[in-house]
Amino acid sequence: MARIFSGIQPSGELHIGNYLGAVKNWVALQHEHPAFFCIVNYHAITVPYTPEDLRRRTREMAVSLFAAGLDPARAVVFVQSDVPEHTELAWVFNTLTPLGELERQVQFKDKAGRQEQVMAGLLNYPVLQAADILLYLADIVPVGEDQVQHLELSRVIARNWNARFAPDAPLFPEPQPRLTPMRRIVGLDGQAKMSKSLGNTIGLLESPEAVWDKLRPAVTDEQRTRKRDPGEPERCRTVYPLHKAFSTPAVVAEVEANCRSAGWGCIDCKKALHASMTAELAPIQARAADLAARPMAVDELLADGGQRARRVARETMAVVRDRMGLDASA
Ligand code: AMP
Ligand code: TRP
Repeated sequence: MARIFSGIQPSGELHIGNYLGAVKNWVALQHEHPAFFCIVNYHAITVPYTPEDLRRRTREMAVSLFAAGLDPARAVVFVQSDVPEHTELAWVFNTLTPLGELERQVQFKDKAGRQEQVMAGLLNYPVLQAADILLYLADIVPVGEDQVQHLELSRVIARNWNARFAPDAPLFPEPQPRLTPMRRIVGLDGQAKMSKSLGNTIGLLESPEAVWDKLRPAVTDEQRTRKRDPGEPERCRTVYPLHKAFSTPAVVAEVEANCRSAGWGCIDCKKALHASMTAELAPIQARAADLAARPMAVDELLADGGQRARRVARETMAVVRDRMGLDASA
């Protein structure tokens, strides 16, 4: 059966962008496939950080993931640095990755533009990502749209390795992205993708009051300046897409009708969204509070996930070492 792998940066708590774009889909897929979900702390150290902060954000991300519904009885949930084979395979893949492929990655150019000094690890970031996925021989990678180019590169790397070291019976699958309709959630400014580093997020664990303070001023249909002007749901890049994610079909239909007829102003529409969001987020927040109060339990779940992941990773590396002639002293 097709295997699932995906990763997430240890950016602290989930926000509704990475929740709707990826993690909600992980929760669904864990029931249908063998699945591995990884908190990618080796990726996180490619930009400036402090160790204490990274440790805290890693734990917080684990709490968010379990609270959002990842079930350790179904999926393997672990921290990347607990499985050193990730960096081992990444080194191997570095020797099979054309430099030009790395230099043209949009995310690299974007992040490099924001750094004073660009380290080699930032350039090689997608090579480590390919190693993450291929170590588990994963076929399907549920991600948001921003990761599609990285996955293209993972397929190039898989193809290069197979052609060179296993031409008759390929070891690595060519992993495909699995996108959802929520593949790109826009920040509340209505401009860029919702992202922690841009400061335009709504946290999954934020209180209903804090969520309302962010929703109230969110940019909607900019051509609708007065409440009595009829609106156009498709022109609203913030509130309407979130209704489609959080509200029932009946509420979405009501929103569309009342926007077009100017029956509701944008504030009414935001109030309805707030109610839908609170309904979905309340049980997640209750689970998160419970887990946050039991840090040892979270550490144990992660340690167990790390061991289960490592068993699979070791098997793959044994084949890789054998095929590449790296086992001469074994
Ligand atoms: P990150 O939190 O950047 O590590 O991303 C984790 C996952 O969430 C990746 O699959 C991303 O593609 C996805 N993701 C992050 N931000 C967004 C967003 N604003 N809209 C949709 N998907 C997102
Ligand atoms: N680069 C991904 C992001 O920023 C995180 C990631 C690392 C990942 N390794 C992965 C995603 C493997 C999918 C598969 O969101």
